[in-house]
Amino acid sequence: MPGLMERYRGRLPFDDDDPVVSLGEGTTPLVHAPHISQLVDADVWLKLEGLNPTGSFKDRGMTCAVSAAVREGAKAVICASTGNTAASAAAYAARAGMTCAVIVPEGKIAQGKLAQALMHGARVIALRGNFDQALTLVRALADDHPIALVNSVNRFRLEGQKTGAFEIMESLDELDALAIPVGNAGNITAYWKGFGELGVAPRLFGFQAEGAAPLVLGKKVDQPETVASAIRIGNPARWEEAMEAMTASRGDIRAVTDDEILAAYRLLAGREGVFCEPASASSVAGLLRYGAGGARRIACVLTGHGLKDPGTALDQAGGVIACEPCLSAVEEAVLGGGD
Ligand code: F0G
Repeated sequence: MPGLMERYRGRLPFDDDDPVVSLGEGTTPLVHAPHISQLVDADVWLKLEGLNPTGSFKDRGMTCAVSAAVREGAKAVICASTGNTAASAAAYAARAGMTCAVIVPEGKIAQGKLAQALMHGARVIALRGNFDQALTLVRALADDHPIALVNSVNRFRLEGQKTGAFEIMESLDELDALAIPVGNAGNITAYWKGFGELGVAPRLFGFQAEGAAPLVLGKKVDQPETVASAIRIGNPARWEEAMEAMTASRGDIRAVTDDEILAAYRLLAGREGVFCEPASASSVAGLLRYGAGGARRIACVLTGHGLKDPGTALDQAGGVIACEPCLSAVEEAVLGGGD
């Protein structure tokens, strides 16, 4: 499959002879979720964005942002990140032969994401602060140096990410609502743009973690906290756009607790066979808590792959069963004590 810049060139701000930095992103599966559908009494589909090349939806935006940076002659890219943007920027920069620096909150990014950024050769800076501080700092840095900023304040990121909406509408003729996690609020803004360009207007149900829910509270959160480290953000850059999208779509932005996020995370893996990261599960957690709101067909954006965060998975999952290498012991281990 060609990458999304080739597939959607006519709808993106690139000309035919512009450079394209691609890893074959997009064209992710949209799978029906029978169990969750039954629980919320609606038809629910899961958009598996963890199947993008670096394991998250960020690749949709990054192919455009890094291609635009190459077109502008930039030699380096930079971002602040809770992990996924860093992994994606590092991969696309490596592909383009550019240098990449990422600033992440120290000790607060999942292991898989850190491994990716390092393997792709990025300079990884662990900030003794949170994501919001990191974003403020990289914005100032990018103003003073010839480095392309590839956070979702970069308009090309949103252009690429709007293609998620295109793909959903190619698979489903009608959609009543989209459930989506909200952190820095770039993705909900991008989806709304994509739907708008198609002339459709599903309701947008955005979900934030309760300890990091500035859009729900209507004020910044100075010290955001949540197990869903990807959305541990207290001052979203796309605040106004997200609120506008929510209002225009007659949607809602609501909070879910860490316990609800983790319950949805386990349910998705255990009952639907879909392993996403905790932040992604907040979209399903929100549906389970607040219901479908009358929507009959709902798509949930599962933003990142479960393998990104092995630490949380191992905390949440059952333990392994140690076993001696003989048949009776294996039999007992497999069949369970006396059952
Ligand atoms: N889900 C995942 C897995 C994410 O990594 C992010 C954001 C979001 C949801 C929220 O998307 O910010 O557009 O509202 N991650 C960014 C990062 C902040 O640095 O990787 P958003």
